[in-house]
Amino acid sequence: MALRDKTVLLTGASGGIGSALCDALVATGTRVIAVGRNEPALAALAQRHEAGRVTPLAADLSSAEGRTRVIDLARRLSPSPSVVILAHAQSAFGLFEDQSPARLEQLFDTNLVAPVLLIHDLLPILKQHERATVAAIGSTFGSLAFPGFSAYSASKFGLRGLMEGLSREYADTGLRFQYLAPRATRTAFNSEAVNSLNRAMKVAQDEPAAVAAQLISAIEQERPRMQLGWPEKLFARLNGAFPSLIDRNLKAQLSLIRRHARP
Ligand SMILES: NC(=O)c1ccc[n+]([C@@H]2O[C@H](COP(=O)([O-])OP(=O)(O)OC[C@H]3O[C@@H](n4cnc5c(N)ncnc54)[C@H](OP(=O)(O)O)[C@@H]3O)[C@@H](O)[C@H]2O)c1
Repeated sequence: MALRDKTVLLTGASGGIGSALCDALVATGTRVIAVGRNEPALAALAQRHEAGRVTPLAADLSSAEGRTRVIDLARRLSPSPSVVILAHAQSAFGLFEDQSPARLEQLFDTNLVAPVLLIHDLLPILKQHERATVAAIGSTFGSLAFPGFSAYSASKFGLRGLMEGLSREYADTGLRFQYLAPRATRTAFNSEAVNSLNRAMKVAQDEPAAVAAQLISAIEQERPRMQLGWPEKLFARLNGAFPSLIDRNLKAQLSLIRRHARP
């Protein structure tokens, strides 16, 4: 799908990958509706582009009120959005037993319930276009559940299931659903504990601008799914075909992971 002159609804726009995506989208000639909660960050993002290119919209997507604000604006826009990129999420590194029920609820409301309900309410708008796409930004942990990230992994597995189901449900229409998964990326998403674990496990980290460029290219090519990075591509596939291999490998690293995951 050619992105030029399209209206793009982008969530997570105030974040590391989201703001890099916003810059790359403007460079391809799109108009971006930039959604996040951090109003000063959204205003700064809008200001670094030509007037009218980036429209900031502050909304907490874990709430019905926040989602309604997004849908209302999408309905009023002309041209309405034909590209939706869901790049918002919260991280939750720690042992499952240490995470409070309130924190777990917030995580699933943001990472999974919000995409389900936003997509549901955006469908009538998207279906007005001959071609439209929804790209959800997943994670390696949406294909390979990782100790210390059990709930986060579950939220991304759910997101992957949603996008795969919808891409099959709408396969004979002009609507596309994409699940695009970065590997570890250098943004504020990762706490110092996560960065320290990544260093100890020699996990490579990508720069947000490089990730954004690959995501934009996957959206233009309408790829239904993509895992970024090597060896993450291989591990994600191995986990699908031979999960006991990954079980064994992660069991050997469990004490290291536990040491970083304990508060
Ligand atoms: N960084 C990584 O290592 C990594 C790896 C794999 C996948 N990913 C995925 O990549 C995507 C972007 O991550 P990132 O690294 O850019 O993270 P980030 O810098 O922490 O940005 C997260 C974004 O999500 C928004 N957000 C969080 N909760 C929200 C809520 N309740 N309502 C509305 N917006 C909310 C934040 O908005 P405010 O700041 O305005 O609150 C921010 O714009 C996420 O889906 C993440 O799961 C990241």
